[in-house]
Amino acid sequence: MAFLSADQGEGGEGGEGRRSIWTIGGGKGGTGKTFIAVNLGICLSRFGGDVVLVDTDLGGANIHTFLGLSFPPRTLSDLIKKRVEGIRDVVVDTEIPNLGLVVGAQDLLNAANPKEPQKWKLIRHINSLQVDYIILDLGAGNSFNVLDFFLMSENEILVVTPEPTCIENTYRFIKSAFFRKVKRIISHFGVKEIIDMAMDQGNERGIKTPFDIIELAGEIDKSIGLRLEQELENFKPKLIVNQVRTKGDIDIGFSIRSAFLKYFGISIDYVGYIVYDDNVWQSIKKRKPLVLEFPQSRASQCINEITLKLIIDKPFLLSSEG
Ligand SMILES: Nc1ncnc2c1ncn2[C@@H]1O[C@H](COP(=O)(O)OP(=O)(O)OP(=O)(O)O)[C@@H](O)[C@H]1O
Ligand SMILES: [Mg+2]
Repeated sequence: MAFLSADQGEGGEGGEGRRSIWTIGGGKGGTGKTFIAVNLGICLSRFGGDVVLVDTDLGGANIHTFLGLSFPPRTLSDLIKKRVEGIRDVVVDTEIPNLGLVVGAQDLLNAANPKEPQKWKLIRHINSLQVDYIILDLGAGNSFNVLDFFLMSENEILVVTPEPTCIENTYRFIKSAFFRKVKRIISHFGVKEIIDMAMDQGNERGIKTPFDIIELAGEIDKSIGLRLEQELENFKPKLIVNQVRTKGDIDIGFSIRSAFLKYFGISIDYVGYIVYDDNVWQSIKKRKPLVLEFPQSRASQCINEITLKLIIDKPFLLSSEG
């Protein structure tokens, strides 16, 4: 696979200006994050740009299985344990043209909960990959580790299934992501305290939403209040509803979008839905990606449509030779 690392400069085909990072998360386990990451990655690779899938589900890495790779020669463990120099040394070629894979760490006892410096090092390594698209598959939950990977990108994608438990988790996840995001950029001690408090659902001051934080922060320092307002305006995660069975399920995406705007001031972009389709688990059982094994299936068509929608603001790939 042709790609450059940051230390090789920006002049090549994967220059900084062209690169786009997509992170796929959402809080709840088993919603289809990995399935979507893999199949989106394949659809993207067909447009001719270089794509690297990175498995950051450090406790349950399994992207390689979705792609039919049983014994990946190199994994993130080699990078964490410094057996290789840089992340480009652990990018494994797949059978799919233009698609590389960074297999998640599997044999490290503490991999699921890397220490802060280890995690930031990993994030810097991933950021140094100079390819057109980097797609990060995230683990479940809303731990700081998962949130920090989620916030690495300008295309934060949430995967939700149309069940109340999953929707509930998604609200919690996205709220926590926003709180984490602002905590990282605000240095004012008093405001940091408010954000910490907000992370605790049952906090005694009743801080629940980004609006509450902005108001309280504004009382402490008007300019910080305004900065937070700006951050809220710029935070625009994307939403995919997966495992849709009815028209009502499709509409859940619109309801989530309205609720986020009304109660949290967060504008979510509902980029599409994927139908529940038996071909999905059949393809997983066969260890063959859905869009290759069942390209005509309804779920494959949904993923193709979502891919197109997602790259509409990245026209360079549409114009590259495939
Ligand atoms: N559109 C769909 N139609 C039918 N089944 C689906 C669909 N999407 C996902 N699944 C099923 O859900 C299962 C879980 O998918 P996947 O492993 O991608 O979830 P995940 O969100 O990555 O899970 P985890 O949080 O454990 O990493 C798959 O094995 C598949 O059987
Ligand atoms: Mg997964």
